[in-house]
Amino acid sequence: VHRDVRRELDSIRGRAVEVAHEAGALLSSGFRSTPRSRTKRTAADLVTEFDERSEALVRERLHDAFPDIAIVGEEGGGQRGEGAAFYVDPIDGTSNFAHGHPFFCVSIGLWEHGQPLVGVVHAPEMKLTFAAARGAGVTRNGEPCRVSSTDALERALLGSAPHDHPRAYLALDRSTHGIRRCGAAALEISLVADGGYDGFWDVGLAPWDLAAATLFVTEAGGEVTDLEGRAFTVDAPSVLASNGRLHGLLLTALAHARALPPIDPVT
Ligand code: IPD
Ligand code: CA
Ligand code: CA
Repeated sequence: VHRDVRRELDSIRGRAVEVAHEAGALLSSGFRSTPRSRTKRTAADLVTEFDERSEALVRERLHDAFPDIAIVGEEGGGQRGEGAAFYVDPIDGTSNFAHGHPFFCVSIGLWEHGQPLVGVVHAPEMKLTFAAARGAGVTRNGEPCRVSSTDALERALLGSAPHDHPRAYLALDRSTHGIRRCGAAALEISLVADGGYDGFWDVGLAPWDLAAATLFVTEAGGEVTDLEGRAFTVDAPSVLASNGRLHGLLLTALAHARALPPIDPVT
C-alpha cells in the first residue's frame, strides 16, 4: 500500500473508531432501558429506536468527514455506486440489545473495488474495540491481534448459527470443542481475528455484518472464503472465516456435514 494511501486509511480508521465510540455511548445509554422495539421481516427480526438513532449518528458523522464516500446502512439503505462505500450496522445483535444481553456491537467497514480497506467493530458493553486498515494489521483495544494456531478440528472452538443445515451444525458441535452462537455475527467474526474462535461460518449475512470483521481476519493472518471455498466478496451468500490452518479441514468437514440428510422437521 502506497505511503499516502496508508496515511489516508489510517486517518479514516481513526475517525471511524471515534464515530463507533460515539454510537457505542449512545447504545450504552439505552442498554437495559427497555427500548421500544418493533419487528421487521419476521417475528424474531427486531429493530429498536436505538438502531435508528445509532445509524443516524454514524451516517451524519461519516458524511461530514467523508462527503464523497457512499454509505450503505442496514436501517437507512443507500446505494454503493462505483466507488468506495461504508457499510454500517448500527447495532449488530439487536435481539441481544433488546433483551439486555451485552453481546452487541456497532460495525463500520469501508470497501472499494471489491476490496476491504478499513474496519471498526466496537462492542461498548463488552469493552471491545477492533480496528484495522488494509495492510496495517488489526488491533483489539489498541493491541495487535493474531488468529489462533489450532490445527486440529477436534481442538477447535467455533462460532456459527444453525441457519443453514442444523444437522451439520450439530455434527460439528459434537466433533470439536463446540460451537458458540452469540447473536452478533460481526463481533463473532472479530473473535476469529483474536484467536477466541478458531473459525466461524454462516449463511445469509449482509454486507454490513461482514464488511469490517472479515478484514480483521485476513489482517490477523487468517483466511476468509465462502462455504464453497471461493474468494470472499462482501455480497457473498455464505462465509467461512478461520485461522487459516483449519480452513481446508473446515471446508471439507462442512461439505461432508452439509451433505447429510436434513433433520426431520418437528411436526
Ligand atoms: C444479526 C446478527 C446475528 C445473525 C443474523 C444477523 P442484526 O444481525 O448478526 O448474529 O445470526 O443473521 O442478521 O439483525 O442483529 O443486526
Ligand atoms: Ca447485523
Ligand atoms: Ca443491525
